[in-house]
Order: sequence, then C-alpha cells, then structure tokens
Amino acid sequence: MIELLRKRRSVRRFTADPVSAEHRAVLEEAALRSPSSRGLDPWQFVWVDDPELIGRLAKAKHHGAAFLGGATLAAVVCADESRSDTWVEDASIASILLQLAAQSLGLGSCWVQIRLRQRADGGSAEDYVRDQLGIPGGMRVESIIALGHPAEDPPGHGIGSLDRSKLHYNRFGA
Ligand SMILES: Cc1cc2nc3c(=O)[nH]c(=O)nc-3n(C[C@H](O)[C@H](O)[C@H](O)COP(=O)(O)O)c2cc1C
Repeated sequence: MIELLRKRRSVRRFTADPVSAEHRAVLEEAALRSPSSRGLDPWQFVWVDDPELIGRLAKAKHHGAAFLGGATLAAVVCADESRSDTWVEDASIASILLQLAAQSLGLGSCWVQIRLRQRADGGSAEDYVRDQLGIPGGMRVESIIALGHPAEDPPGHGIGSLDRSKLHYNRFGA
C-alpha cells in the first residue's frame, strides 16, 4: 500500500483504450467493499462508458471537469442522504478507494468534485448530473471518478515535499 501511495497522482489524460471487463469487475468489487458508517452502505455507483454521456458529464461544471471528456470510463459516486448522516464521508471513502484500486490495476484516475459545485450559469452541478443520468432526487452526487489507461505519468510526490509541520504529537503544535 505505501508503494501505491508513493506513486499516487491524479491522471487527467487517457488513451482511447477501453477499460477491460476484468478491470471493471475489480473496480466494481473495490467500490462495494468500501467501509461505511454503521455499515449502512448509502452509496450507489453509476458506471458510464457511453462516450456521448461522458462528454455531457465533462460539462457538469465550469472548471475542472473538461478533462473527463477524454476518459473511457466514469464512476459517478452517489449516496442516499436519507440513509446516513455520514453519506459525504462514505461516498468520499468509496471514491478514493476506487482511485487506489484503479492505480493498482495500472489505470489512471482523477476525482471530479460535483457536490457543492456550480455550472457556468449558476445552476447546480449535482442537478445537471442527476438529469443526465436519471438519478433520482434525494440521491446526492459526491464525485465523478474519471478512469482510463493513462496517457501521462506524473511522478509521485517526493518524500522531501511532504509537509511534516502538519504532524503533531500528543498535543497540537508539539
Ligand atoms: C475532494 C477532491 C476534489 C477534487 N476535485 C477535482 C476536480 O473537480 N477537478 C480536478 O481536475 N481535480 C480534482 N481533484 C484532484 C486534485 O486537484 C488533486 O488531487 C490535487 O491537485 C493533488 O494532486 P495529486 O492528486 O496529483 O497529488 C480533487 C481531489 C479531491 C480529493
């Protein structure tokens, strides 16, 4: 795991090669193995591989989503907010586990934030994504994880770049 984390980076450029059925099955399993508060598992995952739909998702918000248009697979991470008051945490954990599982398969990925984000016209990115994919109201959309074979290979963050001033021992500031 630490080797995976040492190499971990967001990947925003992908080749046109599709994610294989075997790799997709692993990603699906990883998502469903995510821990959640009280084991309530409030998440739902919409897997999108239709290029036209992915193109529409890439327009979900003004900044930071356009690169999604080059992904061959998108995992839309939703959660039922009436099911758990920790749905944000649960959906976030599932999102990052999906990213790490993708990396372990040699795939690249990047998180696209949807919750609390707006479209250029001021509309909600969440409403737009729900409309595109027929996601029912009440089902919140936390993120879209862009997935695919990497067309870039950013180096992991060097050990010297880690900000150790964020670490505290027994007391904050110590
Ligand atoms: C909660 C969260 C939301 C993010 N949202 C976006 C996003 O909307 N668009 C994007 O391009 N990257 C997004 N990212 C990726 C971050 O920009 C990236 O993780 C950060 O710049 C550090 O780069 P690295 O992942 O390569 O270490 C998000 C990451 C997280 C954890």
